[in-house]
Amino acid sequence: MRHLAMREPRITGRRALAAVAAGLIAAAGLGVNAQAAPAAPAPVPARPAAAPGHQGLALTPPMGFNNWNSTHCRDEFDESMVKGIADLFVERGLKDAGYEYVNLDDCWALPERDADGRLVPDPKRFPNGIGAVADYVHSKGLKFGIYTSAGTKTCSDIGFPGALGHEYGDARQFADWGVDYLKYDNCNNQGVDAKQRYTTMRDALAATGRPIVYSICEWGQNKPWEWAGELGQLWRTTGDISDSWSSMSSIMKANLALAPYAHPGGWNDPDMLEVGNGGMTDTEYRTHFSMWSVMAAPLLIGSDLRTAPESAFDILTNDEVIAVDQDPLGRQGEVVSSEGGRWVVSKELADGGRAVALFNEGSRAQRIETTARAVGLPQARGYAMRDLWKHSDAGTTGTIAATVPAHGTVLVRVAADRKWAQYPPAVDVSADGDTVTEAGRTERITSRVTDLGGSAAHSVRVALTGPEGWRVTPRSATSARALEPGGTLATDWDVTVPEGTSAGDRDLTLTARHRTRSGAWVTSAVPVTVRVGVPLPAGRTALSDAGPLSSSNGWGPVERDRSVGESQAGDGGPITVGGREFAKGLGVHAPSSVEYYLGGACSEVTAQVGVDDESGDRGSVAFEVWADGTRAASTGTVTHADPALAVLADVSGADVVRLVVTDAGDGVDYDHADWADLRVTCV
Ligand code: GLA
Repeated sequence: MRHLAMREPRITGRRALAAVAAGLIAAAGLGVNAQAAPAAPAPVPARPAAAPGHQGLALTPPMGFNNWNSTHCRDEFDESMVKGIADLFVERGLKDAGYEYVNLDDCWALPERDADGRLVPDPKRFPNGIGAVADYVHSKGLKFGIYTSAGTKTCSDIGFPGALGHEYGDARQFADWGVDYLKYDNCNNQGVDAKQRYTTMRDALAATGRPIVYSICEWGQNKPWEWAGELGQLWRTTGDISDSWSSMSSIMKANLALAPYAHPGGWNDPDMLEVGNGGMTDTEYRTHFSMWSVMAAPLLIGSDLRTAPESAFDILTNDEVIAVDQDPLGRQGEVVSSEGGRWVVSKELADGGRAVALFNEGSRAQRIETTARAVGLPQARGYAMRDLWKHSDAGTTGTIAATVPAHGTVLVRVAADRKWAQYPPAVDVSADGDTVTEAGRTERITSRVTDLGGSAAHSVRVALTGPEGWRVTPRSATSARALEPGGTLATDWDVTVPEGTSAGDRDLTLTARHRTRSGAWVTSAVPVTVRVGVPLPAGRTALSDAGPLSSSNGWGPVERDRSVGESQAGDGGPITVGGREFAKGLGVHAPSSVEYYLGGACSEVTAQVGVDDESGDRGSVAFEVWADGTRAASTGTVTHADPALAVLADVSGADVVRLVVTDAGDGVDYDHADWADLRVTCV
């Protein structure tokens, strides 16, 4: 995609969001309480066999490195970086873990071809030429990749030469340098049919006689999953990833819908990894890596390993997770369920087992549960289950369950196993989540420890600890001599929130410990979220003057009494819709969700909503107001051309009001949205 000064997040996950929005628009209209219709399942095409003529390339998803996500066109992208990565692949065990390709992205060439029409490596970045770098990479037993565009110029603003009309000469030059992998982008394509452009380069690569993995990068614009398997080994399915949770998770959801198209030698490509680049937490990066593996996605490291933190190496070299990605059956995981942001994705494996991802999209811990049968395993008395991040084994009679932290993923490998009962029992540790309360109050929370396996859990003990100053008192037994298979230790706790606690979510930690038959101690700790609200004053209050319970925003922070502006806090302008300025309100950017505590004491929320004038002639969004689990109001699509629209939502009796802005199904670019004059009436 084009790289203008980055004012906006890249479009991601159009398909997924479109599906959600379709349901919303159908139910649009103020005061409509209908729930969003579930997205219709994608039609399942016949599973294609690996197409002939691919020289057996990429029978498992390609693994390696590409500089783009960490350097873009900056100066540090040069020969010493590329050689340094190749060195680290060997020294740090990445080569042994399966990482093979060291790939250059855009900006390696000079803007002009030479007099003979040949591409010229940038002498500042690559003083010894590209062939020398390829030789170095090969000398390490690795493979080498390069980039160009199926257009007249590449995607960088500077515009390096593209291969349209030069396919055979450029492919020859790449082969002469020893290139093993070509990423072929889509910019400046002059409107020439995509299939035609990508076919010409396929033929040009074939004519070189050198096996070259062919990565088709047209961002999912022409449904490449339907035709690119005939041409190359992988095809991008979405716009560019960026190093943020919203980008990564929306790309993931779009790519999940394409599972039936993946096969050995032909892979859906949800773009390169961001692990190690610093814009997400380690929990989020583990989700990124787990889900890319369950989706059989190419694993191209996108961080500068010379400076990446140790935690990135720990994630990227988890060989049990890599084995899921590289499983020779070559299936992409399929979505089993996704209610409430509790995703269950199951990938069939060559050994008859399944890799099962329990992914929590929500911003608070949730228990996610499925069964061996639901994920596609045969009926059996019991199953062996291996946790691929904890590296531990357990047995289960069929329930697969875990409390998963916000934005986290538990990844297990499950298989029917006659020896299942000999494994330590799987133990499910959870508590009622999402208790909403106020400072000074005491709430009752019940925790549960359940033996899911085929043998007893011995000496079971459970503890709940709160943040500094919180009082937590057990009201029933906190230990059991033994839990028989199927048995549960349920414990009631009284949790007192200290006076003066400000609004927001707080995590307590529930720790359970038990001994297995072999005498080993097993400890698990899971978060339990308590939501602390501060009551609103009686009368009519501007919500931008109150502290939210939680807020999430697609671009920069939610702004009070300002538009969202750029990604820094406080950088917006006055809230303005259709030329009308408002003193109060929230400036947000889709996808956005802001929650306030009402404590059952408020009757209505009102606002004037619209796309902020700072979006110019772009941007379209949809607004929704949720009263606890009920949609109390929704607008349908609102565009930059619409004047401020009055919203009135009945929130009587609700504990929490949630203000949601979606992208209305067309991507999030320029979706600067305002909840202008946002007010609540309380008693
Ligand atoms: C496009 C691609 C990116 C990257 C850049 C380089 O945006 O989708 O992955 O290759 O071009 O300019």
